[in-house]
Amino acid sequence: KPYVVGIDIGGTNSVFGIVDARGTILCSDSVKTQAYDKVEDYVDAVCAKLLPLIESEGGAEKIKGIGVGAPNGNYYSGTIEFAPNLPWKGVIHLAELFEQRIGIPTALTNDANAAAIGEMTYGAARGMKDFIMITLGTGVGSGIVINGQMVYGHDGFAGELGHTIIRRENGRMCGCGRKGCLETYCSATGVARTAREFLIARSDESLLRNIPAEEISSKDVFDAAEKGDKLAQEIFEFTGHLLGEALADFVAFSSPEAIVLFGGLAKSGDYIMKPVEKALNDNVLNIFKGKAKLLVSELKDSDAAVLGASALGWEVKDLK
Ligand code: BGC
Ligand code: NA
Ligand code: ZN
Repeated sequence: KPYVVGIDIGGTNSVFGIVDARGTILCSDSVKTQAYDKVEDYVDAVCAKLLPLIESEGGAEKIKGIGVGAPNGNYYSGTIEFAPNLPWKGVIHLAELFEQRIGIPTALTNDANAAAIGEMTYGAARGMKDFIMITLGTGVGSGIVINGQMVYGHDGFAGELGHTIIRRENGRMCGCGRKGCLETYCSATGVARTAREFLIARSDESLLRNIPAEEISSKDVFDAAEKGDKLAQEIFEFTGHLLGEALADFVAFSSPEAIVLFGGLAKSGDYIMKPVEKALNDNVLNIFKGKAKLLVSELKDSDAAVLGASALGWEVKDLK
């Protein structure tokens, strides 16, 4: 069977495509994740677009398997059990839902793990045996690769570095129910929160004051920074500094050859990368100084995740 399917479930968009053995995405489409309150309706919406794609590439008999990457996804059980950034609550047997609906064997893993697999197979981490992928999107995710193996851990949930607590005092409320997680500062939504805080706490001028506070996005902050807006640039410095400090600790954990940053924020260039690099270097343990490379994903965001998820499709066991 020449093809696999990759499905990347994001907090905002879900992207899926058919991929061949060389990692070419033959065709793809997307749906808005938040538009479906019931997971069954969501699966139906994905299938309404995916099934015709499968037909156009020769039908289900051409597909070896389906790989799904999802926030908080559990590789062992194929479930999502507590996903604050997704509309569905409780334990959801997502791999099973897709498998039954499409009739092709399906495996699921964490979305950041999928991105790491994509990067390892096709992107900036090619040939690396030890690296950490950090995804900066609606949430902050991570995929930890040690000795060439994705780390799943005892229960299949390993690598939730976005929920490392970086502020013990007055930390921001996180979707996970705890306070001060990295994700509340260094995700796209975290940047928007920082913008709102800065705008209230300070009185200097900023282009961001022209946007209704609750509508400000990380993209707005980037655009303002590009126009020379000092406050916007400071928001990135603040964010990058916190991220770099956290990365310094992650380096001590697994001694990665590289940390790969992925997602829209990582592509905000020097505004964020300079402070990340500085804080990482300033805070990393002596024995690791200058060793872990800081890289930005080489793949288009949606591609890395779709490709990574699809890679799982080659490994699934055939249906009975
Ligand atoms: C979740 C992770 C996920 C990340 C990015 C976090 O809130 O806990 O599992 O990888 O968001 O979607
Ligand atoms: Na992970
Ligand atoms: Zn959290």
